[in-house]
Amino acid sequence: MSFDALFEPIEIGNVTIKNRIAMSPMNMGFTGPNGYHSDQNTAWYAMRARGGFGLIITECVVMNPYRWRGSESLNPSLLTDNRYYRYHSEMTALIHEYKQCKVFIQLSPGWGRQGHPSVESPDCPAGGPSPIPLEVDLRNLNKGWEKQFRRIAPGLKEIMPDIEVFNNMSDEDYEGVRTVLPGILHQNAPELVHTVFGETPREMTVAEIVDLEDRFAVQAKAAYALGYDGVEVHGPHGYLLHSFLSPRSNQRHDQYGGTLENRARFLLNIIEKTRKVIGPDNAFGVRLSGDELMTGGITHDEIKQVVNWCKDAGANYFNISQGSYENPGAAFAPDGENDFTRWAPGFKDSSGGLPIITPNFVNPETAIAALKTGSTDIISLGRQSIADPFWPAKVKAGREKDIVKCIRCQRCYMDLMTSNWARCSVNPLVGKEKFYPELWLSDTALEKKVNKFMEKAKGLPQV
Ligand SMILES: Cc1cc2nc3c(=O)[nH]c(=O)nc-3n(C[C@H](O)[C@H](O)[C@H](O)COP(=O)(O)O)c2cc1C
Repeated sequence: MSFDALFEPIEIGNVTIKNRIAMSPMNMGFTGPNGYHSDQNTAWYAMRARGGFGLIITECVVMNPYRWRGSESLNPSLLTDNRYYRYHSEMTALIHEYKQCKVFIQLSPGWGRQGHPSVESPDCPAGGPSPIPLEVDLRNLNKGWEKQFRRIAPGLKEIMPDIEVFNNMSDEDYEGVRTVLPGILHQNAPELVHTVFGETPREMTVAEIVDLEDRFAVQAKAAYALGYDGVEVHGPHGYLLHSFLSPRSNQRHDQYGGTLENRARFLLNIIEKTRKVIGPDNAFGVRLSGDELMTGGITHDEIKQVVNWCKDAGANYFNISQGSYENPGAAFAPDGENDFTRWAPGFKDSSGGLPIITPNFVNPETAIAALKTGSTDIISLGRQSIADPFWPAKVKAGREKDIVKCIRCQRCYMDLMTSNWARCSVNPLVGKEKFYPELWLSDTALEKKVNKFMEKAKGLPQV
């Protein structure tokens, strides 16, 4: 089978990406204390650049300086002011060393009600569109999540003897489970109580929303100056921007709630204000859930309309996802692959043909088939890029059989959610990349310069 089509270049705005393989945005918690990029973070991305990805999209970097309750426990990387800048520029420079690998930053105005309380903000509630609590319905778990929940909370065995039975439980029976669940989680993994039962956010004021819109534009502009080739607005998965889009979580009566146009205003203002300051050509896109996949949530038809407005406001590419925390299993982290491609034609049509990035692949055969349908332009690897950073290089070299495949165990996700150092069941190097510079520093422009320098240093008298 020929995989050549995966290695054709493509343009987004004024950026040429050398192939059709992106690394999906993933917060691994590798950032250093207080949101600074760490050496591990840089090594983590550099290894994927060396592995042959044409485009790396960073984890969602938070541009909200207020550190409301929920901001810091996932240990996000920050871009809130110039203290953080130099670490971003160190990282972009290193990624660029690898044969024109490009890097986009995913910028987020915050987690909203999907945050987790932590030490810095125990008494400061998360902001959101309306004071509506998040609640994960655990009957939505897939096999991977079920495995992880059972691992960290052995007490669940009694109430979850069989996932099929559990997932089909009546509302009445589930209510019983709901009553005992917080206690079980509290004993085993207290962080998860808030992930599952969430937080009732306070209603953000209009002044706060406008402030974040303005700040987004300023920080996006800074990101290009720091070497990022593109900026992506983080709008999926139930986080702050999504919670404004969704009628489940947005029940405001002002210009930011009610009609779809009003619910989309926060997102559209961010795009419009940013495009105004960055100029017409830079790569600047949006990630959205193709459908919330929850009763009363935002639908695919509404998302298509939002995509169309985003294009008019100045977005020039789209990155697809689906679902929210309230539907973690079947939605944003499926057990299998190629579940997101179903939204790609909707994004393609509504955006008037702009470049589309579609994640959720494991096998190169599935990825090339999705690309060849023409509805998606770039395939993106999330958990598979954790399992094997060298996926693109192996496919290019005809060594598909050597790919280490992601087994969808959800270990990476659960480690993040429980404030653990992220690990991978099939790749022992995950989280230890910084200790293996030979796997991410060699074969770069930097290495060549250093070798020349060392050559000249040879034979110098000892002092
Ligand atoms: C540990 C982890 C962290 C993630 N963090 C982000 C994030 O910061 N921003 C985002 O848009 N998606 C995030 N995602 C979702 C992925 O980008 C991707 O959509 C999801 O894993 C499904 O794709 P996959 O099947 O290729 O893994 C994360 C996923 C994982 C596993």
